[in-house]
Amino acid sequence: MSTAPRACVIGWPVEHSRSPVIHGYWLEHYGIEGAYVKEAVSPEDIAAFLGALSEHGYVGANVTLPHKEAALRAVEEADEAARAIGAVNTVWLDQSGTLKGSNTDAYGFMTNLDAGAPHWREGCDVAMVLGAGGAAQAVLHGLIEAGIPRILLTNRTAAKADTLARAFGDRVEVVPWDAKDTALTACRLLVNTTSLGMTGQPPLEIMVSALPAKAVVTDIVYVPLETPLLAAARARGLATVDGLGMLLHQAVPGFERWFGVRPEVTADLRARVVATLGET
Ligand code: ATR
Repeated sequence: MSTAPRACVIGWPVEHSRSPVIHGYWLEHYGIEGAYVKEAVSPEDIAAFLGALSEHGYVGANVTLPHKEAALRAVEEADEAARAIGAVNTVWLDQSGTLKGSNTDAYGFMTNLDAGAPHWREGCDVAMVLGAGGAAQAVLHGLIEAGIPRILLTNRTAAKADTLARAFGDRVEVVPWDAKDTALTACRLLVNTTSLGMTGQPPLEIMVSALPAKAVVTDIVYVPLETPLLAAARARGLATVDGLGMLLHQAVPGFERWFGVRPEVTADLRARVVATLGET
């Protein structure tokens, strides 16, 4: 039997996942004998599947919707990022067979922002985050770790923003959803973590013209690659960062754990993934 390491992405459904394109590209690029495949696992089966990862033939996995919270409960050791975000997206078996978990979404978000707008931290005293789902939790963790002193959080359902603000401490301040335009004048960074603007979803209505001239705007939505929010920001002359890089960068730590090489996010990889974005 082959001893080449195998990893997978676990979701329900999992068909839409682009992770196999990313990891498959790196396996080929670095000439590594290994495999990365999709595993459709139902919510009833996720804990048992992760508990028997090695028996299923895997050294590790990515975990995607709707399993990220269940994966946090299933791992034997979760790192600080996973605990702060309340979700695990990357698991691996260490040398003693212990199942470990991390969340690399905050790392992916921050690395993408650093790559796409290297100057974004300069003068960034206030940032605004739109949305209060799982992606918002990862973004808040990243911004807090980066030392941003004040983060305005706004969400259609205010109670969810209140819960996150309590969990992340007093640097996070809730702004009512219908007051976000007024609060924008102070913000040097605007992050959309809602699904608004995604193909098939309603557009995000926000007054980009209220942002200061040096503001940076980023969207975690990457279908379309340039969302209406990013297009409006670019038309205003603001720096913009699209969401695809977050997906690419969050994959780096997992690949390194499973296959022993820290892979690079390159223009060639990006082009390979962009070519799949039109596919369903
Ligand atoms: P994820 O884990 O990717 O963050 P999610 O938990 O489903 O996904 O969160 C989606 C986010 O988009 C939420 O903040 C949601 O707002 P609610 O908490 O009010 O549901 C936001 N969202 C989705 N559709 C929206 C809409 N039509 N208007 C405003 N916000 C919307």
